[in-house]
Parts: sequence; C-alpha cells; structure tokens
Amino acid sequence: MDKFRIQGPSRLQGIVRASGAKNAALPALAACLLTGDEVTLSNLPRVQDLRTLRRLLAHLGVESSGDGETLTLSARGEGSLDDAPYEMVKTMRASVLVLGPMLARRGRARVSLPGGCAIGVRPIDQHLLGLEALGATVRLDHGYVNAEAARLRGTRFRFATPTVTGTENVMMAATLAEGTTRLENCAREPEVADLARLLNAMGARIAGAGTDTLEIEGVSALHGARHSVIGDRIEGGTYLIGAAISRGDVTLAGAAATDLAPLLEKLAECGCTVDVGAQGIRVARSGALRPRDVITAPHPGFPTDLQAQYMALMTQAEGMATLHETVFENRFQHVPELMRMGADVRAEGGTARVYGPSALSGAAVMATDLRASACLVLAGLVAAGSTEIDRIYHLDRGYEAMETKLAALGARVERLTGAGTPVPVEH
Ligand code: EPU
Repeated sequence: MDKFRIQGPSRLQGIVRASGAKNAALPALAACLLTGDEVTLSNLPRVQDLRTLRRLLAHLGVESSGDGETLTLSARGEGSLDDAPYEMVKTMRASVLVLGPMLARRGRARVSLPGGCAIGVRPIDQHLLGLEALGATVRLDHGYVNAEAARLRGTRFRFATPTVTGTENVMMAATLAEGTTRLENCAREPEVADLARLLNAMGARIAGAGTDTLEIEGVSALHGARHSVIGDRIEGGTYLIGAAISRGDVTLAGAAATDLAPLLEKLAECGCTVDVGAQGIRVARSGALRPRDVITAPHPGFPTDLQAQYMALMTQAEGMATLHETVFENRFQHVPELMRMGADVRAEGGTARVYGPSALSGAAVMATDLRASACLVLAGLVAAGSTEIDRIYHLDRGYEAMETKLAALGARVERLTGAGTPVPVEH
C-alpha cells in the first residue's frame, strides 16, 4: 500500500489548477446509459473512482475510449444480465448512480445495495422511493435492488432529506418518463446542476437546476452530446485551506468562487486574505488565525466534504472552534489521528471542539476515508518533522496527482510505494 511522506513545516505558494469535479464526473458517466449515442465528456479528473465506474459501465455494455481527461462513451450494447454486481458496487457507493438510468432506458435494473461505509450508514431509501413514485416496482432480495417498469410515469415527489446522488438518480430516470415530474426538496449542489446541464444537452427538458425544485418534462429518447464537467470545489478548497494553514499564498484556477462561497467567507472571517480575480481565487495568510465555528449542511451550507480539512486548519487558530457535523454520523475519524500529531480536539457525537493553536509534530498516521486523508496531509504541512500517511489509496480515489500539485506549491512530499521506495515527484 502506498504512503505519503511529508516533511514539514512548509509554506504553500503559487498557482494550482482544480481538476474536474469527481462528484460531477461520476453522474455524468452514468448518464451515458440513457442513450445509445456517443457522449463525450471532458475535464474529467484522473482519479480511481472514475476508473471504478468506467469498469462497471464496461460490464454494463458501455464502450469508452479516450485519455482519461476526455472520454467518449457509447451505451450501444445490451451489457451483462447480472447488471451491477456486489463485487463492483461495494468498492464505491456512487455505483448506485447506474440504477436510475438503467431502469429508465432498459425497463429493468438489478443493482447491488452498496453496503457499509466508513463515514455513516448512508441508506438509499430516498433513491428507491423516488423511483417507486415514478411507477417502478422495487424489490430487494439477496442484497440486490431489483427495479422494473415498462415505462416510467411523470410524478410529484418530495425527498424527505436533500440527497445528492438520490436527486441525480431520480432526475436521470425522470428524463425518459412519460409526462412531467416535479421533484421537491432536491439537493442544490453545483454537481447536481452540472448533471442537469449535461442531460439538457442530451435532449432532456429539466428546469430549476441548482434550486430545490426540479421540473422534468419526459422525452421519449435522449441523444449524444459533448460536455465539460465543472471544476472540483472540494479539491480546490483543500488547496486553499492549505494556503491558510501554512501561512501561504495560493491562487486556485479552474473552480468557481460562487461554488466555494461558504469556505471563502469562513476563511475571510478567520483573518485570511481572499481575492477573486481573473487568474482565480487567491487565499493568503500572514497574521494570526481566528477560530471560527462551522456547521456542515447541504449546499449552500458549509460542505461536509471540507469539514475534516477545516478541522486541520482550526488546530492552528488562536482559541477554540466548534465544528458540528450534521450530514454524516461518523465523519470525525481523522480526530484520533490529528491528536497523535499533537492536536487538542474533543469530539462527542456530531460535535468537535478544537483548541488551538497546537504545535503539531510529524507522526505515522493512517488515512480512513478520502477527506480524512486530506485533513492529515494538511496537518502534515505544518507539523514539524516527518509525517507518514498510510493507506493513501483513499486519497487516490478523489484527488488527482495530489503530491505533484502540492510539490509544485512548495511542499516537500513524496509517495512511498508498497515496497517503501520513494517515487520521484514531477512538477
Ligand atoms: N440519505 C438518506 N437516504 C437516502 C440518501 C441519503 O437518509 O436515500 C442521507 C445520508 O445518510 C446523509 C444525507 O442524506 O446523511 C446526505 O447524503 P447524500 O445522499 O447527499 O450523499 P451522497 O449522495 O451519498 C454525495 C457525495 C459525497 C458527499 C455527499 C454530501 C457523490 C458521489 N458523493 O454523497 O461525497 O459527502 O453527497 O454532500 O456525489 C466525497 O466526495 O468524499 C463524498 C463522500
């Protein structure tokens, strides 16, 4: 298993470009199942989760070609009758995004339930209730969802809780339903809106993207399209927090400031300089860091996907900050690892109190999930000495070439392969 070794402290400085958003790219790939025509997607991040979904789509009969950053996909074939098997779905929950499109276009889908997850229970009941409202018969057996419908019918459905992939799944299915569908209490994340843009380019009729109510006029077929996915606000936000934690000066290109507003407002309150200009979003810090509380919430609230990274930052603030995690039940797994590096954090239930500033020191730590790993990388940047982060396959799921991007900003970071050999970082 690969590790990162980071020599701290270091200061991040320079320009970094956000890759395409993983969480926009995943539903975009799944949307290709809705048509037999070619769909060309660009600005895709080269990350493990996309490789995993591409493998599942190949199993479902989707041909794809391209260099990873751009892919042309064609769902002409019938695909496997096993549909989406446990072996493939268990490694990545977002695989469930094939359910809505397969059902809508093929009239049936058999998709494994995703199973356990490190950050919370993460049920998919809202996906299934939405598909049932569209007229599908949904049956669970042997750990699989079996959904069937000769043709889905337009409906009115209200999500009990805003769910990102749930909204995406039901929205994709509704594009091919007979009649109009109204979805309420939808997730408003920019990635959902980006998917709606792709679907409309494929001939869907979706209004209200980016709001909590979607109106989808069903069409009988979708066609091919070209689409460039939005930049990754979470990856980009991680580097901006890197600037703040390391008293650095980083300009982020390729991500929209409006999508990052909750983080940028918080960084400004903490005493960072935040400028949005032609080159991108600049975050710099020279003075002391003020502690500021955070409550995670669905967009446009503070993203749960930046909570762990923000916690690393608060270890350097002059005082106590309270972090409330409201989206997932178990998203403080970075806390014990941060404490091993010298942080003073008291977590109970969904609340963590971070008492700063702490002089962090390098230690051997373990990554437990994608964003927890990013938190440890940020802590490693300001810790004195060497931090070794094990199990960085979690990072590789969602951060493209992180060590290269960090090294270009001045960090001293290297990847150690399973055999313990450092891999030279090119930048
Ligand atoms: N929920 C339900 N029932 C459902 C669906 C969700 O109760 O049917 C609950 C969840 O348990 C959770 C809340 O609703 O408490 C929100 O979950 P959501 O469904 O929005 O999460 P998701 O769609 O599974 C996506 C991202 C996550 C991100 C969350 C929240 C993708 C592929 N994944 O997950 O990204 O944390 O939205 O913004 O889009 C990551 O990139 O590290 C990551 C975990």
